[in-house]
Amino acid sequence: MFKFKSLFLLLIIATLCFQCKSPNSSVETKIDKLISEMTIEEKIGQMNQLTGLGLNDDMKAQIKNGTVGSILNEVDVNIVNELQRIAVEESRLGIPLIFGRDVIHGYKTIFPIPLGQAASWNPKVAEIGARIAAQEASSVGIRWTFAPMVDVTRDPRWGRIAESCGEDPYLTSIMGAAMVKGFQGDKMSDASSIAACAKHFAGYGAAEAGKDYNTTWIPEMLLRDVFLPPFKAAVDAGAASFMCSFNDINGVPSSANKHLNVDILRNEWKYDGLLVSDWGSIEQIEDHGAAENLKEAAEKAITAGVDMDMMGFAYNYHLKELVNSGKVSEDLVDNAVRNILRIKFRLGLFENPYTKVQKDAFYKPEALEAAKNAAIESAVLLKNNSLLPIDKKFKTIAVVGPLADAALEQFGTWSFDAEPAHAITPLAAIKQMYGKEYKIIAEPGLVFSRDSNATGITKAVAAARKADVVLVFAGEEAILSGEAHCRADISLPGLQNQLIAELKKTGKPIVLVVMAGRPLTIEKQISESDAVLYAFHGGTMAGPALADLIFGKAVPSGKLPVTFPRMVGQIPVYYAHKNTGRPGTNFVTIDKIPIGVFQTSLGNTSFHLDAGDKPMYPFGFGLSYTTFSYSKVKLSAKKMDAKAKITAECTITNTGKMEAKEIVQLYVRDVAASLARPIRELKGFEKITLKAGESKTVKFEIAADQIGFWNLENKYITEPGEFRVWISKDSQSGEPVSFRLE
Ligand code: BGC
Repeated sequence: MFKFKSLFLLLIIATLCFQCKSPNSSVETKIDKLISEMTIEEKIGQMNQLTGLGLNDDMKAQIKNGTVGSILNEVDVNIVNELQRIAVEESRLGIPLIFGRDVIHGYKTIFPIPLGQAASWNPKVAEIGARIAAQEASSVGIRWTFAPMVDVTRDPRWGRIAESCGEDPYLTSIMGAAMVKGFQGDKMSDASSIAACAKHFAGYGAAEAGKDYNTTWIPEMLLRDVFLPPFKAAVDAGAASFMCSFNDINGVPSSANKHLNVDILRNEWKYDGLLVSDWGSIEQIEDHGAAENLKEAAEKAITAGVDMDMMGFAYNYHLKELVNSGKVSEDLVDNAVRNILRIKFRLGLFENPYTKVQKDAFYKPEALEAAKNAAIESAVLLKNNSLLPIDKKFKTIAVVGPLADAALEQFGTWSFDAEPAHAITPLAAIKQMYGKEYKIIAEPGLVFSRDSNATGITKAVAAARKADVVLVFAGEEAILSGEAHCRADISLPGLQNQLIAELKKTGKPIVLVVMAGRPLTIEKQISESDAVLYAFHGGTMAGPALADLIFGKAVPSGKLPVTFPRMVGQIPVYYAHKNTGRPGTNFVTIDKIPIGVFQTSLGNTSFHLDAGDKPMYPFGFGLSYTTFSYSKVKLSAKKMDAKAKITAECTITNTGKMEAKEIVQLYVRDVAASLARPIRELKGFEKITLKAGESKTVKFEIAADQIGFWNLENKYITEPGEFRVWISKDSQSGEPVSFRLE
């Protein structure tokens, strides 16, 4: 009897286990079966991604013939459903299409640009933003977004810094993984989930001179230490797809980079998602000078593991011939198709190919509230001479600057689907929320950020003279950052510097609010202002968020996700640099050099004569309306062996008068190693809320495998020796303590 019972139990367990495993294995079986039924033309069709052309006859015919697998940029739900109907009902095998779109920081409800979201250092902000974007986009049939962009970049000239999470691999990993989670939801097959795409694989942010698409030179250990970790984090977070980057690394265009796409992504990381090219990037292998013609480009890309050709037509025109001639094995093609079909199964497109037409899917109150909160958390207070929050004693406020009432501009880059009529600008919000308490005089001074017509400045100055305080909303229009929108001069464009200088002459207190897609070189304008709030492009709800911050309903809590240079010539300038053999100490800057001194008397250390060795603001920097004190860091041990962990803790006290959030940062330095290591590396952070007078102890665990590095032999190693630990408010402050790894 007992034996029978146990046998029965075992049987149940075995069945359950089989059932747990079966969805995947049954998907793989279905994929294999489909592939066995597909002609080579149908296989290549799956690998072909085209941009939407509405209900174009040629497109319809291609879908019916099974020669297109994915469409991007079609956002009319009725067209999406009709094209899908043709694929499912009229094509021979009924394989559904997957519709993609760049839903980068919101679909209709626009959240702050990713660089702004990164300044929140709050992964929940990113996750919720991505979730809402997925809900809104999926309502029109978009089931695949080309986000998150997890390219680390240390160059604010690069327009795409706006789309990035800044300069740090750890912060980018955390924020990128949160976005993946938000887009894909708990279940990717849910109608409101969309597949994420970690892009651009890889090294794109290292473009020489911060010029888009430019060459990169990245030694393997730098690639692995700095540029790849956020991509690995995206794999671990379950990102359903990856996109190749446009650039070449050390001469190899990413769409032809077998080492990157096969050796690392597939073999090391065991990735089974879809790898799509960037727009035309297979075709561009030829432009790079790495293929003689489109056919060779197609061969290189398929050999390098690129599954889908986005608008490059290389597979479409040449893959069949390459297979027939034996240059490319059909197994390679089958593998690519397998990866494509897998994402379609994972999204549940075979079971539910159509999109239910919904009413009121956009701008839900909870979406607007979340967007406002994201904009609040994304703003960084850079300076405050006790001017913010605005005091009740002021009676008249002048609202000045080209960004004060520029709905389209506050969306930032990649907001194709945003509608300015739904955005609330700072001026509108201030008038609506505070128009009764204060007299508001609005005078833009300049019509747009690049405006070079000075006539409005006089009026703005006149408005300032009548006011008790001046709020200046300056920055960049959305078009000045983003893809292919790089700048060599990253100061405030147009006559904005003149506007601020003229306002300064009035002697009135100035609050400068910067809305931009990148760090700007605004040292002088900061010195001319009494308070500076850096808001990036804050999205639909930027206005109410900024009003809350300026008038004290909310307290700034953002910290910089990227170093702010004083001058362009300092770039690349980032916190995790090497110490060099002659770190920048005891130096003399240009205006202090005595006339006729000898060459060696200037210090002979690493600095610029005209900029010193420090940036304008370091990574991790940000002020609050309150102040925080940090205790000395305590370590749980002075020594640690490679398998153990050590705990570092620090007590943070709110020493001011307001409840506020603080981002507590953990940095580590490997003091002496076989390769020189950065002077600090971010290894953890926590955003805490403290009431006035309250203290909290924040603890971080440090494990040996977090503090290693990639060596010249391409191995991740952790070496014994001294490590320094900081728990600090930014990447420049704090007192380190040490432990030894044995
Ligand atoms: C960009 C990608 C984007 C794609 C599709 C390319 O130009 O580099 O980031 O996803 O276009 O729009």
